[in-house]
Amino acid sequence: MSDIGSLAESHTVQSPAHVEYGSGATAELESFASARDAEAALIVTDGNLAESGVIDGPRAHLEAAGVDVTTYDGVAPEPKLSMVEEAAAAAESVDLIVGVGGGSSMDTAKFAAALAATDRPVRALLGMDNVPAPTGPLALVPTTAGTGSEVTHIGVFADEREGGVKRVAFSPHLFADLAAVDPDLTATMPPGVAAATGLDALTHAVESYVSLLRTPYTDTLARRAVELVAENLRPAVTQGTANDTARARMSLAATLAGQAFANSGLGAVHALTYPLGMECDLGHGLANGVLLPHVMRYNVPAEVDRFADLADLLGVDRRPGESDRAFADRSVEAVFDLLEDVNVPTSIAPFGAFDRETFERFADVAFEHSEHNIERNPRAMDREDVIGVFAAAERGRES
Ligand SMILES: [Fe+2]
Repeated sequence: MSDIGSLAESHTVQSPAHVEYGSGATAELESFASARDAEAALIVTDGNLAESGVIDGPRAHLEAAGVDVTTYDGVAPEPKLSMVEEAAAAAESVDLIVGVGGGSSMDTAKFAAALAATDRPVRALLGMDNVPAPTGPLALVPTTAGTGSEVTHIGVFADEREGGVKRVAFSPHLFADLAAVDPDLTATMPPGVAAATGLDALTHAVESYVSLLRTPYTDTLARRAVELVAENLRPAVTQGTANDTARARMSLAATLAGQAFANSGLGAVHALTYPLGMECDLGHGLANGVLLPHVMRYNVPAEVDRFADLADLLGVDRRPGESDRAFADRSVEAVFDLLEDVNVPTSIAPFGAFDRETFERFADVAFEHSEHNIERNPRAMDREDVIGVFAAAERGRES
């Protein structure tokens, strides 16, 4: 394994005040509400989860504390700022906001809590450190195992006034007071969603592990998250409710990876995902999963030791006499194998018709809206490099 990293300087660790995890973690909502003398709560979620009954458990635990629960269920994938405004308006007379769902619902809940606590317009809160004050009590309850949004201080939203372009908000005030990570809530996740969100978690862990802002603390989280995904994503996707252990471990992996990247930043995958997701209507997790091995392949020469670690963590057996570089390269192959096993394409070709002009436009969007992620990537990237990675991702595994 690579060196633990320098402790000759200090590092910051930021996280929610309270993380409750494991089967039954949702029950923590009752004491959370009681301790705050909450009388009314708003659950922020999407229509499918509201209809399917996944929110019934969280609602029952809030009601057990004597809380009157209302629901905003207008969240959609790649949430719009207008949804944040609607959720904040619905939260006007409540004293507790609970986001229940995937990253979209949790991000919307966070930002609605921030908006409800200020007189400023929603767009004034975007960007770095523009949330002016702590939010009211906020709990986040993931129903997928991937985004890590429950433990991050980040929200991503589509700005419908600018053609749906993605806008990011970072603020320490966006950390939840409680993240309740209950694998019982992932039971109804369809296999495709389990695969896509699980690959988002893997991308967080890998990008954190090679981020230029990584620390000994984030390394520890990221390493374990990579191992857990490598061991549990296949059974979690293919066996679902027949393998509660694999699903529970994926929930843990997603939260560990979320805590890792909240403190280390991400990398180029999360930048290149922006234009691909926007133009091809591709969900965040799926776009990350498809691009991950292609960006890794680009990055290996800059971080051979770290990618050799990743090969090991992904379960690759080192051959006798195999060079560090050859072993590091096989971390890329291990991710391609994983994609194939969970039915995710290893090329972007199925998602659209691409040409050089498309990739030039994609590169411009990546730099314009996600340069912070490119800056943390371990191998420097200019516009031509980004175009090259997109072209390789179109050619696929054998490129
Ligand atoms: Fe992500």
